[in-house]
Amino acid sequence: MNDAETMINVEHVYKVFGPSPRDALARLDRGEDRESIRKATGNVIALADASLEVRRGEILVLMGLSGSGKSTLLRCLNSLVRPDRGRVLIEGTTSQLDPTAADAETLRQIRLTRISMVFQRHSLLPWRTLRQNVALGLEFRDLGRAEINAIVDEKLELVGLGDWKDKYPEELSGGMQQRVGLARALATDADILLLDEPLSALDPLIRMRMQDELLALQRMLKKTMIFVSHDLDEALRLGSRIALMEAGRVVQLGTPEQIVTSPATEYVKRFVANVNPLSILRGDSLMQPLSSLPRDPADARVLLLDRAGSCRCTLSAEGRPAALSIRGHAARLVPYDETLALKALSEDVLISGPLETSMRTALAVNHATGRPMLLLDGDGRLRGVISEWDLLRAMAEDRAGKPTELGGDA
Ligand SMILES: Nc1ncnc2c1ncn2[C@@H]1O[C@H](COP(=O)(O)OP(=O)(O)OP(=O)(O)O)[C@@H](O)[C@H]1O
Ligand SMILES: [Mg+2]
Repeated sequence: MNDAETMINVEHVYKVFGPSPRDALARLDRGEDRESIRKATGNVIALADASLEVRRGEILVLMGLSGSGKSTLLRCLNSLVRPDRGRVLIEGTTSQLDPTAADAETLRQIRLTRISMVFQRHSLLPWRTLRQNVALGLEFRDLGRAEINAIVDEKLELVGLGDWKDKYPEELSGGMQQRVGLARALATDADILLLDEPLSALDPLIRMRMQDELLALQRMLKKTMIFVSHDLDEALRLGSRIALMEAGRVVQLGTPEQIVTSPATEYVKRFVANVNPLSILRGDSLMQPLSSLPRDPADARVLLLDRAGSCRCTLSAEGRPAALSIRGHAARLVPYDETLALKALSEDVLISGPLETSMRTALAVNHATGRPMLLLDGDGRLRGVISEWDLLRAMAEDRAGKPTELGGDA
């Protein structure tokens, strides 16, 4: 693990559940497929040569069909499952830890201080109140009762269960129990969170709120999270990167945009077939770049920002927009921000935004103003323009990532 960014490395991990793992692996090595091995020997090959690299501070979302090995892979990370082959390395403060080879005491320490897990199914102790359940991981540490209570109460508030602290799990709905599990994981100091579909039982509103909390947590506390999800929208929203699993292997690992625009296999392509491009495409892959913007035949310094040529711009020597006009009248540039009342903007305004501007925002700007949006880099230089045309083209793109011919430049 030379890459300083890497937090966890999963290297060629195999896991077989059943009576004779060794026999199953030998058959796998000879090229037999998982299904025939299961029929012949009763062994289930849950992981077969799974490799994965998780970066420090990222949210990595694991996706894949039911039974593809997501939970098993997650459990290998804190050694609830011991791989039959391969290894897992976790970057430690002084050295790398291999939880799959650690002795019981080291493992206990890893689970107490480094990794905490939210399970797919609730794992609350029925004889303990919510407060006592959330306090579970804290009791082994050197903390006073008042300190523990303060942390526990804060986390229960965070997941919206502040009024339920002294209830028992059986008095809660499934979604509420799931939130207790989340609070318990958040209450520990662990820098790595393993989350096995932690939000699946929640209704959409609470689910969105919890997603926002997780994103805030990642930004503020720089926690590294591995998050299993079945929900593509959730994966796209949360994932710094997404790993797709098929039959015990990670078949693709990439940013949401990479996964959607260049799926590595047919399986991945089917998985992302119905992605809403609004949630995924960003300004710099939508825009018409500066180099291809048409210029006024009468004055080559003037860039034409829309097809009709009614919005125009000249640049300063540094490449920043210097003079703007709309239908011959001077115009001004206003940076986009979420609080902007787009519909109430005066006729002389063009909106600018950063290169990461989402398609959703670009669409809103185009719709409200009827004018293109200017994309600027960090130094305020014009890099490209998004017009209605670019948005239409992106919508018409087939999901294999190849633009459908609509004419214009591609
Ligand atoms: N403890 C176990 N004993 C026997 N078989 C198991 C065990 N755990 C998992 N398996 C099998 O290993 C395979 C992978 O299971 P896993 O739970 O990792 O899948 P998953 O991707 O998490 O699926 P889901 O989306 O349904 O949660 C499945 O075929 C499952 O039946
Ligand atoms: Mg699972």
